[in-house]
Amino acid sequence: MIPAQKIIVAMDISERDRLLKTMDSLCGTNVWLKFGLEAFYSFGPGVVAQAKDKGFKIFLDLKLHDIPNTVARALKALGPLGVDMINIHAAGGSEMLKRSSETIKSMGRPPLLIAVTQLTSTSLRQLNEEQRIQGDILESVVNYAKLAKESGCDGVVSSPLEVQAIKLICGSRFLTVTPGIRPKGSDAQDQVRITTPQDALLLGTDFMVIGRPITDAVDPKQALMNIIQGN
Ligand code: C5P
Repeated sequence: MIPAQKIIVAMDISERDRLLKTMDSLCGTNVWLKFGLEAFYSFGPGVVAQAKDKGFKIFLDLKLHDIPNTVARALKALGPLGVDMINIHAAGGSEMLKRSSETIKSMGRPPLLIAVTQLTSTSLRQLNEEQRIQGDILESVVNYAKLAKESGCDGVVSSPLEVQAIKLICGSRFLTVTPGIRPKGSDAQDQVRITTPQDALLLGTDFMVIGRPITDAVDPKQALMNIIQGN
């Protein structure tokens, strides 16, 4: 069994009717919802308030990345939405991460602050040749995780395959939020470094982000229940 409160459903949906139907279908299941750039730019902050009204915990996945002052002020502006988890790019550097953490911690009910390490779409060639970072993806992910921890973040986004190395360096209480999850037999689509929900759980992930296997299903709630029950 996968605990529902460890599952964050990625609501990458830009048609309002389908979004509301999916939300209603998942109501009362204890899963979190994740709103990213697509939903936030399509519907605005109101979509977060609507989901909160229905009792969902919210991960606002806007992956902020700018100079420290701008990111800190953006986080402050997002504060009144009252989300439960929010993220920024670790590549923004220690100053940006620290300012973000201070800003978050000064809020009444601070959301968990999560840093994006290397996007799961980044290849080794891009890392070495385009970003000019030496070493492999895992080294870069662990390096960013260490930086995020030292700068006051609560955890990182990574592949489930990187969780054990992160926990070894940053400790078991440092959170890992992992996309790249595919139930057995389902299409990998554009995800590359994937695991099943059961394997992600065994690897120690704290939250698994699952989108299309649930949101594209004819019956999203049934698809979720199949994942929870390990079918
Ligand atoms: O549909 P799927 O399960 O692939 O959705 C995964 C979600 O996780 C998407 O919203 C995607 O933007 C997000 N994500 C990711 N890889 C990252 C960071 C976020 O897939 N490294």
